[in-house]
Amino acid sequence: MSETDLSIQDRVCSSAERGPSPPPQTLIRLTNLEHTYLKGTPLQVPGLRGVSLSVDRGEALGIIGRSGSGKSTTVQHFNGLLRPEKPGQVEILGQDMADRSVDVRLIRQKVGLVFQYPEAQLFERLVGDDVAFGPLKMGLTLEEARERVRWAMDSVGLPFSEFKDRFTFSLSGGEMRKAAIAGVLALKPEVLVLDESTSGLDPRGRRELLSLIRRWKEDDGLTIVFISSNMEDLAALVDRVCVLDGGRSVMEGTVRDVFSRPGELQAFGLNVPQITEILVGLKDRELDVDPRCTDVAEAEEQVWRILST
Ligand SMILES: Nc1ncnc2c1ncn2[C@@H]1O[C@H](COP(=O)(O)OP(=O)(O)OP(=O)(O)O)[C@@H](O)[C@H]1O
Ligand SMILES: [Mg+2]
Repeated sequence: MSETDLSIQDRVCSSAERGPSPPPQTLIRLTNLEHTYLKGTPLQVPGLRGVSLSVDRGEALGIIGRSGSGKSTTVQHFNGLLRPEKPGQVEILGQDMADRSVDVRLIRQKVGLVFQYPEAQLFERLVGDDVAFGPLKMGLTLEEARERVRWAMDSVGLPFSEFKDRFTFSLSGGEMRKAAIAGVLALKPEVLVLDESTSGLDPRGRRELLSLIRRWKEDDGLTIVFISSNMEDLAALVDRVCVLDGGRSVMEGTVRDVFSRPGELQAFGLNVPQITEILVGLKDRELDVDPRCTDVAEAEEQVWRILST
């Protein structure tokens, strides 16, 4: 079987092979993480003041928080772009990131980070060359890299044969974003971190990207960290949510639990999915609904039930 036939996490093993729910394996653990930008200068800014969170293998974790709450600073610790400041601790794939002997190149390959406007990271003239950049830097042969590029481009919905020789900057915005994500996927990461990567896309582009991410998670077992200010997108994709405020982790729980506390979220400058808001409003009027619901079809069922009783 060629590399192209392998799904993202064939190497990790399929859920069927995993058998009856093994204990979660923590891939990323942050403990009391602090970070100060421009430390020691008159311009120093506290980026993080105490973030603790973990990411387990195979899950999708959402990170939310108002602008400036520390989301991007947090995830830049996930692949060694930023190193932990004492006394905070960062453990990635079992490695203590305070240890200077850790091979950061390997960590960057295993934890792929896609930024808000990833298309700004594109720089090669041809799409195929851009996607090939990472695999070639990893030391793969040309042939191996080509197969990786083919697989990654096909995975994001930019068919290799059609797009590999296209000029990078002739792509549409959505296609550029897919190309940038293909460049990260081509490294075959174990964790894919998306920092506002769906924002700015038109509704169709956003939906397409979301369903791709869901497929990578569900079919391939890829671990996802998803930052978004769109609560609908978040609710549709992630299993757990971590809330940041003022550089601190302030709330954590399942999507249903976190979004069932709209008052607290509001205090952190956040909202809940609109459908949840409607159910909370109905519950406040003493109607028999479960407001811990983020799914439109499920909410529709609940409303039908009330209407027919
Ligand atoms: N390179 C930098 N130099 C100085 N301060 C920074 C830098 N990057 C971020 N900060 C500051 O650190 C804090 C956290 O920023 P961060 O970018 O992590 O927030 P965020 O939650 O990702 O915000 P947004 O939702 O706007 O992307 C903010 O006060 C920000 O101004
Ligand atoms: Mg940010």
